Amino acid sequence: MSEPLKLLAFAGSTRKDSYNQAVLNVVSDAAEAAGAIVDRVSLADFPMPLFDQDLESRDGLPPTTIELKKRMTAADGLLIASPEYNSAFSPLMKNTIDWVSRAETDDEPPLSAYRGKSTLLVAASPGGLGGIRGLYALRSVFQNIGVTVYPSMLAIGSAYQLVDDNGVLTDEKWRQRLASLAKEYVDFAGKLKG
Ligand SMILES: Cc1cc2nc3c(=O)[nH]c(=O)nc-3n(C[C@H](O)[C@H](O)[C@H](O)COP(=O)(O)O)c2cc1C
Repeated sequence: MSEPLKLLAFAGSTRKDSYNQAVLNVVSDAAEAAGAIVDRVSLADFPMPLFDQDLESRDGLPPTTIELKKRMTAADGLLIASPEYNSAFSPLMKNTIDWVSRAETDDEPPLSAYRGKSTLLVAASPGGLGGIRGLYALRSVFQNIGVTVYPSMLAIGSAYQLVDDNGVLTDEKWRQRLASLAKEYVDFAGKLKG
């Protein structure tokens, strides 16, 4: 029997009451129910300075980057919920992607943590479009760094009406749509992994 699919799940927001984290929780639960092992991380536990190439030359990669790279390398795919900021994705997301893209040693192949992986992208926003424009920007970045992006994405608008005070997405229709998308993605990522 083949090994179970391993996924790393993180949101592009560390906000206490993050809608994206609420949505990611539903996706992660559904991916587990579909048989995947999900490593759930909060980027709050991986603080990294704003990327600066002189800083990198001087100090190398931060320990938080090295640890996140390790967890990403161990995964077959990524579950990501990303907020939309001014029609793109969050600076936290970009900073994390940039640091993790860097090699630790001269003989490490470029983009080693990303190549051969797939990802499922979802978003939530208080606005009407749900953050879909940010997802298209994010999808373009991932495609250019060797990550296969699952064709379907979901962006959930008016999130303030759908997430309760405990950070739980309570809307049954969206929960089902997310769960069904997560299951589709687990099947897809499993086939890609072989
Ligand atoms: C700088 C900034 C820009 C924003 N731009 C957008 C935007 O373009 N589209 C949108 O739907 N929401 C936008 N928002 C609102 C975010 O969707 C909202 O803050 C959301 O709660 C962030 O996700 P989170 O709940 O996971 O932290 C913006 C928020 C900030 C702080």
